[in-house]
Amino acid sequence: MELRIDRQALVPVVQQIVDALAIWIRQDAVEPGTRLPSIRQLARQNLLSQASVHEACQRLVAQGLLASRHGSSFFVAPAVSDAGATAEEAWLPGVSSAPADPTHQALKLGCGGLPESWRESDDLGYAIRQVSRTDMAGLFNYGPPLGLPALREQLSRRLKQFEIDADENRILTTTGALHGLDLIVRTLLPPGCCVVVESPGYPKLFDLLRLHKIDMLELPRTSRGPDVDALQCLLAIHRPSAIFINSTCHNPTGSNLIPAVAQRLLQLARKHAMLVIEDDVYADFQGATRARLAALDAEVIYLGSFSKTLSSSLRVGFMAAAPSVIARLGEVKAITCMGGSRFAESVLAKLLANGAYRKLAQRQRQRLNADMAVALQLLEDADWKVFGKPSGGLFIWARPPLCDYAELQRMARRCGVQLSSRTRFSPSGADTDWLRINVAYARDPKAQAFFRATALDRPQVS
Ligand SMILES: Cc1ncc(COP(=O)(O)O)c(C=O)c1O
Repeated sequence: MELRIDRQALVPVVQQIVDALAIWIRQDAVEPGTRLPSIRQLARQNLLSQASVHEACQRLVAQGLLASRHGSSFFVAPAVSDAGATAEEAWLPGVSSAPADPTHQALKLGCGGLPESWRESDDLGYAIRQVSRTDMAGLFNYGPPLGLPALREQLSRRLKQFEIDADENRILTTTGALHGLDLIVRTLLPPGCCVVVESPGYPKLFDLLRLHKIDMLELPRTSRGPDVDALQCLLAIHRPSAIFINSTCHNPTGSNLIPAVAQRLLQLARKHAMLVIEDDVYADFQGATRARLAALDAEVIYLGSFSKTLSSSLRVGFMAAAPSVIARLGEVKAITCMGGSRFAESVLAKLLANGAYRKLAQRQRQRLNADMAVALQLLEDADWKVFGKPSGGLFIWARPPLCDYAELQRMARRCGVQLSSRTRFSPSGADTDWLRINVAYARDPKAQAFFRATALDRPQVS
């Protein structure tokens, strides 16, 4: 069997052997149980060391592609050649042996995060090295259930810039904001209750509530925040236990909550004994100047995250709430996941303490502001309708002049663009003609070609 190893390549030899064998198994649809040539044979034929071939085969066993007998003879594992990609690969689009995905190269114009090219690794790498060298507890031990004190102290300081008064007893770290939402739902919401959610809104919140069998009451989102008149009508009929609000740089509309709406919403919540949960994961894309519910009412549960700015992989988020609520949530966190990642929290605490995070967020805000202006102009030129011009952040919610979604999809595919879902932003899964546009992708030539193609009065891309 010829493995075609390239000794000049940057990819390590063992990895090349792994890739070559994986391709052989998959593309040739080799029968399960087929025996591989012996290690010695493979090594001799391909001028490799037996140790390298053996190591590669062991890795393929770990990936479930090969099975081993006596640790030395290797066979194609059952059902692998039929099953295609492993579960891990399904989570890792773009890895070399993943199955061909026609949308893989497409520009994700409607996606929810920054492009990979925007992410900055120097300061993060430095903090990771520092923690690895100097903080053994960070590497090996469980973290405290409420979160690392050094990080909670930094978070308390940061919240002051949003005029949120939260000392460390009011702060709990989470494994991203989604974990915070899950803790709230499972700890504070009674079984069978209903809650108010914004529509359009964050799809994973809807999934989470469905998972916990909690009914959702849809509240329209306006360009000034949730529709408080509609909320008043809802409250005349229903008794929701909680309301979830994404205050700044709202996902997907990009809109911000204005102070008058915030005040009215809080009055209604108090009158109807409704818990207010403020999801502010995009806070650092907007800066300090916007209205926050938690700044106006200490009973509001506030959620933040570093996924959008620093790293989605680090998985560090946090919550600020009344100490009694934090204590309850901390108990459930301890039961379900011990503490958070002490390592990730130590890394973040370093970046907050040395000012690197503040500067990163500043750079991202400036870049996003510039991209927002360009994207709004592109949409205007192509006759799209915009749902309130966002003053910053990642998203524009916009409706193309052409409302036939199937035709729009075809156009997008021809331009190499992937659109946002038509149904996921609605709690009831209703269709919409509006699309989420991520401004960090809108300058790309593929996006520009797509916008031009959608303009009614322009020649369409063939
Ligand atoms: C509104 C909103 N809340 C929460 C989250 C989850 O954030 P995290 O990655 O910190 O769990 C997201 C992620 O897209 C979001 O858009």
